[in-house]
Amino acid sequence: MQKLIKLAKKTLEKGNLVIFPTETVYGLGGDATNSKAIKEIYKLKKRPSSNPLICHFPNLKKVKENFIINKIDSLLIRNFWPGPLTLILKKKTSSLISSGLSNNTDLVGCRIPDHKIAIDILKAVNFPIAAPSANIANKISSTQYDHLSNKLKKNTFVINGGSTILGLESTVIKTFNKKISILRLGSITIEEIKLILPKIKIEVNNNKSKVSPGNLLKHYSPNLPLRIKANKIKKNEVLLNFGKNNLKSNICEYNLSFSGNLKEASRNLFNYLHKLDKCKCSGIAVAPIPNNGLGKTINDRLIRASSK
Ligand code: TXA
Ligand code: MG
Repeated sequence: MQKLIKLAKKTLEKGNLVIFPTETVYGLGGDATNSKAIKEIYKLKKRPSSNPLICHFPNLKKVKENFIINKIDSLLIRNFWPGPLTLILKKKTSSLISSGLSNNTDLVGCRIPDHKIAIDILKAVNFPIAAPSANIANKISSTQYDHLSNKLKKNTFVINGGSTILGLESTVIKTFNKKISILRLGSITIEEIKLILPKIKIEVNNNKSKVSPGNLLKHYSPNLPLRIKANKIKKNEVLLNFGKNNLKSNICEYNLSFSGNLKEASRNLFNYLHKLDKCKCSGIAVAPIPNNGLGKTINDRLIRASSK
């Protein structure tokens, strides 16, 4: 693996792109201080430049060199970093991070991933790494090497680190004086945040918000039509099931978690969507998923995947 990390370092230092695993999903990474690398990420991913990229750091010291951190941010950091928390922070004027990654504003999404390969790469280079999820814009995120599209694989150096651990992206948060705003639901749940900040108001941005452009409807989309909260499966549909019930598909089905475990379901979600999307059928029907904890994040992804 050390050899691959060295190759990744060289690739990034040349301004080229590396795909690497994190604990959430695979990231499509480039030097965050190199505006050409940033442009290449947007181009390769076919992502509108108005939708900002997350900046990844190896440790808190490097974040503090570039950003201002308030008291609530500090509390969240103490509890959730390294891990699937992305904080929107205000950039210091001295920072060399390219303004191209945050649509020319000084507010940047930052996180320290909790994954050995990601951290080894981040430690090897002398700059933060900008990395959106490694998928073409609006398509299903990648939690395994074989989910990556050929186009992405052809144009990058890829490190295959097996399946990611959590399977859902980070929770994106912006803090204010007296409230926090969840811009994207993710692997850290509202319940977990409430435990840390019991007195603070938590608002969840809805899908129509322009605050976080990546949160707009239509995202995470399979090629097949997707129908959620299904309580009957049509003749030509495949099934993404959850828990024990009487639902059945004549063609193909996967169960996110037979025991109804939302953590297990999160880990399986994108993998099973990728698999079902390859079936010959009229569409994917998805069983109802409980709307609490990680179920809220799963439902957020499914609602957007089903949006026309
Ligand atoms: O788990 C993750 O977050 C993965 C791994 C690779 O770190 N990354 C990821 O990045 O999911 P991406 O680009 O696919 O999603 C980032 C989300 C988008 O919804 C984007 O709009 C929002 O975070 N975001 C990033 N920077 C922002 C900013 N400065 N202000 C508002 N929203 C921001
Ligand atoms: Mg994404």
